Amino acid sequence: MRSLDSDYRSCIQSSERVSWRLDDVLPEGFHLDFGSRILPDELTATESIGCLSDREKLLLNQIRSNSYAHLFLFLEEYAVALAAHRAGLELHGNPMHMRALLRFTEEELKHQQMFTRYTAAFARGFKVAPALLDNQVEVAKAILSKSDLAVLLLNLHLELMTQQHYVESIRGNDRENLDPVFCNMLKHHWLEEAQHARIDALEIQKIMARTPEALDSALTEYAELLAALRGTLIRQLELDLQTFERAAARPFTEEERKEIREAQERSYVWGFIGMGMKSPLFLSRLREVAPAAEKRVLELAPLYSFN
Ligand SMILES: [Fe+2]
Ligand SMILES: [Fe+2]
Repeated sequence: MRSLDSDYRSCIQSSERVSWRLDDVLPEGFHLDFGSRILPDELTATESIGCLSDREKLLLNQIRSNSYAHLFLFLEEYAVALAAHRAGLELHGNPMHMRALLRFTEEELKHQQMFTRYTAAFARGFKVAPALLDNQVEVAKAILSKSDLAVLLLNLHLELMTQQHYVESIRGNDRENLDPVFCNMLKHHWLEEAQHARIDALEIQKIMARTPEALDSALTEYAELLAALRGTLIRQLELDLQTFERAAARPFTEEERKEIREAQERSYVWGFIGMGMKSPLFLSRLREVAPAAEKRVLELAPLYSFN
C-alpha cells in the first residue's frame, strides 16, 4: 500500500492548512437572526408551495434549515465511528494513513459539536421548540452493521453531496438573502469535508485492492442503506410538519397538508439521495473504483429522482 502514502500525506497537509477552531466559527451562546431565509430554496423547496403565505414559507425554510443542521449531526454519528474504526485498523500499521483517519475522526466530532451549537441557538430563538430525531446512535449502529466497503460508499456519497450543496447552491448565492451565520458554518464544514471525501475514496481503493470481489454485495448493501436513509428523512419530515403547524399557528386542511408534504418529501429525497447519486464527482470516483459500481448507482438513481 506504499503507493497510496503520498495521497494520505496530501490529505493531512490540506487538513492542516484549512483547519479552524470551533469557537472562531460559532461561539457558544450566540444568537440567530430570524429575519431571513437560512438555506436556499433549492434545498428547502418552500417557494413553490401555493397554499402558504410568504411568512409561512419563511418559517418552513427556517425549520428545514435547522433540521438540515441536525441531520448532519445525526449522520456524523456513524461517520465518527467509521473513521475511528478505520484508523484503529492502521494501529501498528501505516502511521500516515492512521494520522489522516484520526484527523478525519476529530474533525467529524468537531462538526457534531458545531451543529449541536447551531440547533441549540435555533431552539433558543425560534418561536416554538423544533422536533428533531434523537435515535442517531441506533441508526449509526444499524449502518455500521454493513460491510466497511458499503459504509464507505455511503459516506463518499454523503460527503460529496454536502460539498455539492455548498458549492452549487450556497457559495456566492446573491439571489437570496441567506443567513450569513449558516453560510459561514457550511463553508467551514465544506473546507474539511473535501479531505474526508478523498480519504473515503482512498479507503475504498485499499479494500478493493485486497478484496475486489467484495464490491458486488457492498453495492447491494449501499442500496439498502439508501432505502433506510429515505425512511430516516421521512421521519424527520413528519417532525418538521408538526413543528411547522405549531409555528404557523393555523390549522391546515388535508389538501394543504398533502401539498406541503409532497413538496417536502421530494426535496428531502432529491437533496440527500438523488442529487448525491447523480453528482458527477461521485460517479467519476466510482468509475475509478470499478465501472460496474457507477452502472449500479445509475440504475438505482431513478428511484430517488423526480425529473
Ligand atoms: Fe462533517
Ligand atoms: Fe465528513
